[in-house]
Amino acid sequence: MYRSKIAGVGKYVPENVVTNDDLSKVMDTNDAWIQERTGIKERRHIDKSTDDTTATMGVKAAEMALERAKISKDDIDLIVFATLSPDYYFPGCGVQVQDLMGIHTCPALDVRNQCSGFIYGLSVADQFIKTGMYKNVLVIGSENHSGGLDFSTRGRGVTVIFGDGAGAAVLTRSDKDEQGILSTHLHSEGKHALELSLKGPSTNHWVPEIIEENPQEDIPYYPYMNGQFVFKNAVVRFSEVIMEGLKTNNLQVSDIDMLIPHQANLRISQFIQKKFQLSDDKVYNNIQRYGNTTAASIPIALCEAWEDGKIKEGDTVVLAAFGSGFTWGSAVLKW
Ligand code: ACO
Repeated sequence: MYRSKIAGVGKYVPENVVTNDDLSKVMDTNDAWIQERTGIKERRHIDKSTDDTTATMGVKAAEMALERAKISKDDIDLIVFATLSPDYYFPGCGVQVQDLMGIHTCPALDVRNQCSGFIYGLSVADQFIKTGMYKNVLVIGSENHSGGLDFSTRGRGVTVIFGDGAGAAVLTRSDKDEQGILSTHLHSEGKHALELSLKGPSTNHWVPEIIEENPQEDIPYYPYMNGQFVFKNAVVRFSEVIMEGLKTNNLQVSDIDMLIPHQANLRISQFIQKKFQLSDDKVYNNIQRYGNTTAASIPIALCEAWEDGKIKEGDTVVLAAFGSGFTWGSAVLKW
């Protein structure tokens, strides 16, 4: 059995900064409400005059990760792309990345799993490397939320939270047994699927029918979120899955050098930090600047934490996520 390790990380966020004050010009909201409830000060939105899409942002993050990993695109054995906002209904963004980057005919697959998408993707990649089937796997999380949000006051409870961006990691076979991904842990609970969901367009909710059936309001092609229910479940599941990862590896909370939670809401991260009594330097947050970028949030945060020198060789790093599905998961790494 082999072990996989993260050999390089990359990120890309659109240049267009959208502050809370900017949003308050198009909907009834304000900076104080957003910061108090979520910690978010600003987020990035794709500028539609650029070529940024979910797939192209993923490519930019992937190129950075590959360069840092010193691995050629020709040596990629598998592409895993996590997103809830693909460019097309089908095919997925994985094959778009393959084409845009000129990668040979390796397999490319898309993972859904929303805010947990990157952890799910990482786990899939890890399994293929562990078995020896593949050596190098490119894992990307990328989201274009701004293309699908309701910018009227009706959508304010959801729209203010989300931002656009992409992150990527190159996983490779580790040559040291003690370095790399120690374990991954995945869970889901489908009975809460609609508590955080986007019903259409889909084969059950096709566009002409949606417009015909819902002429003015309750349009199911904007996301729905039962915010307080999500919050309550998130804090419980985050805590459980972090503990599961630690216990599996005979680690204590005090062994964590860096916890990177999915950037759902700063209040959720702070709740977890307080519960585990972790100091500020052991939890990385950047939701203040990017909002919640769902599948992209962990790789963007991991990339920035590494760039800032906050993760060093030998560190125990824990990644954890919770999101729509509900789905949740964690990964424990020795950097
Ligand atoms: N600006 C101003 N007022 C607003 C806004 C806004 N953007 N959004 C909602 N309000 C109003 C509501 O209309 C409501 O007004 P009312 O009392 O007159 O009816 C009031 O503020 C309170 O609304 P709630 O929805 O009850 O606000 P809450 O305190 O629950 O905060 C929030 C909402 C921030 C979404 C919170 O529930 C939360 O953080 N939930 C966690 C969900 C989360 O983090 N989701 C991220 C995506 S999922 C994931 O990544 C795990």
